Amino acid sequence: MSTEVASAKTYPPSSEFSSGAHVDAGRYEEMYAASLADPEGFWAEQAKRIDWIKPFTRVKDVDFSFGNVSIKWFEDGTLNVSANCIDRHLATRGDQTAIIFEPDDPNEPAQHITYKELHAQVCKMANVLKALGVGKGDRVVLYLPMIPEAAYAMLACTRIGAIHSIVFAGFSPDALGARVNGCDAKLVITADHAPRGGRITKLKDNVNQALLNDFDEVKCLVVKRTGDPIAWRNELDFWWHEEAEKVSDDCPPEEMGAEDPLFILYTSGSTGQPKGVVHTTGGYLTYAAMTHEITFDYHDGDIYWCTADVGWVTGHSYIVYGPLANGATTLMFEGVPTYPDASRFWQVCEKHKVNQFYTAPTALRALMGQGNSFVEACDLSSLKVLGTVGEPINPEAWNWYNEVVGQGRCPIVDTWWQTETGGHLMTPLPGAHALKPGAAMKPFFGVKPVVLEPASGEIIEGNGVEGVLCIADSWPGQMRTVWGDHERFMKTYFADYKGYYFTGDGCRRDEDGDYWITGRVDDVINVSGHRMGTAEVESALVAHSKVSEAAVVGYPHAIKGQGIYCYVTLMAGEEPSDELRQELRTWVRQEIGPIASPDLIQWAPGLPKTRSGKIMRRILRKIAENDYATLGDTSTLADPSVVDDLIENRMNKG
Ligand code: WT7
Repeated sequence: MSTEVASAKTYPPSSEFSSGAHVDAGRYEEMYAASLADPEGFWAEQAKRIDWIKPFTRVKDVDFSFGNVSIKWFEDGTLNVSANCIDRHLATRGDQTAIIFEPDDPNEPAQHITYKELHAQVCKMANVLKALGVGKGDRVVLYLPMIPEAAYAMLACTRIGAIHSIVFAGFSPDALGARVNGCDAKLVITADHAPRGGRITKLKDNVNQALLNDFDEVKCLVVKRTGDPIAWRNELDFWWHEEAEKVSDDCPPEEMGAEDPLFILYTSGSTGQPKGVVHTTGGYLTYAAMTHEITFDYHDGDIYWCTADVGWVTGHSYIVYGPLANGATTLMFEGVPTYPDASRFWQVCEKHKVNQFYTAPTALRALMGQGNSFVEACDLSSLKVLGTVGEPINPEAWNWYNEVVGQGRCPIVDTWWQTETGGHLMTPLPGAHALKPGAAMKPFFGVKPVVLEPASGEIIEGNGVEGVLCIADSWPGQMRTVWGDHERFMKTYFADYKGYYFTGDGCRRDEDGDYWITGRVDDVINVSGHRMGTAEVESALVAHSKVSEAAVVGYPHAIKGQGIYCYVTLMAGEEPSDELRQELRTWVRQEIGPIASPDLIQWAPGLPKTRSGKIMRRILRKIAENDYATLGDTSTLADPSVVDDLIENRMNKG
């Protein structure tokens, strides 16, 4: 979606909202200045949000120089994340609801899990993990629906110091297997089935398939969700409800170093296979807790709902760790926005009196298309703050969110961040900033954005400028390394622009100094807020026996933001057909998962290549965007005539 056209209208917070907010305009300026002037002092103070077992004496030890990249926060302190998210709240809010669970089927009753109950369940799961041989530093893969057991499993891992790696339940068995392998997991936690949108995903079957070969020692703990029959692998499979009977509901939290890994989360990049982003313990939790409180202006007693899935970083930081560290009531929703119909989100808001609501632009665009009656049928008077995440929001969707959902009364925080950043890096604060539809507005405390000239890497000063977005210094929630491959970490984020963290995004700093994210500048595309490497889809396509070559690019899509456009060259002798198109779609879904399903497949007898054989993606992007009038210089192509054929047969004629 284009954010090029800035709307002249801005939306300042009401004085009523500002005066009750944690941070108003004056306080933002003051705190932001302090956070840059004295990062150590600022973050030492903020780290008091967390209970430390042994206090840290060193705050920050960071080197961004290529070859030596090293990021450490609060390094000699110790703590336990689950104790911070549960135990420390027991005395004051043991009977308060920690998690509201809203099932896929609206006729199934919601559950309210108190902090006391959460403590018992997490301790039980921690003891089960121990009984299954999982210890400190071991990896556990979670492949679960959005059920409370997903949060129990995350927190149980942190309780005993195991490192979790969540794989979104929409990923295929192949993708799951690669991730189990990638982090050498000892155990997979899954469910029999995942109900979602009235349909069922056979999670345990997928796990069986993923673990079929080469994983003889990987155990599997299975949560019973639907109770429908499943195939048991062998003596390595265990039911959660049976194992839970055998253990105590008390498990002392392990003392962890601030820089011990907390979790691994695989994410797509511009090259190769997804990489395991590593987040550590003390800095991550401090940052998740602080951003959750400040960005959403969360106050004690509020009911907070983030509609993401725990399979993405948003679910980690803003369903589980941030909210629970703050003693919040966090809602977990198993379903989808359109089931049973397009009023589901709003019905859930009404039913549970949600105060802060956080979702993705793609969901808003889909719901907006269904008309306002679905929203207007519900009482949304409890809403105070709205949020978006995952991709740029187009002004139409922003206006609809503001007027129809928020009834002009709720500030919208457009939060820009990444799996790598652990928490929000740029966002308006609801009590501080005059919102501009589509702008990520201002850096969070301690975050120092710089706009660079893409080719030279020179810093572009002043306002009214555009370039690539880098960050000049570390913040506590920053990823520390790529699991098992520190070299790749440095090459991906610190090689192109020396001395800076390179985000992969482009941005504009407007005349007022406010930031607008313009989208990825690398070969990463953003489909319905899900991030995908074009290289991953290409390698799935060429793994098919009938495909000789493939090139994949994004193109503008009204609902998804970007769609997946594939140029495919077939092996000699293979005939293009609609059946083969369908076969390739199914193939990619199997290789990666439904989220990677190609939208458009164009048969390409040849791809535009330079004389040295490099595919000119710029040209392919233009054709996919239907912008073939401005192809630029094609004279360096080995065979310029392939371009005419591609234009002639382009799929996106709309
Ligand atoms: C990429 C990161 C962070 C959780 C969800 C996605 C894009 C994210 C915004 C926003 C414009 C955004 C960026 C970023 N993105 N939020 N508010 N405005 N773009 O995490 O899968 O790691 O993807 O999503 O391009 O680099 P992710």
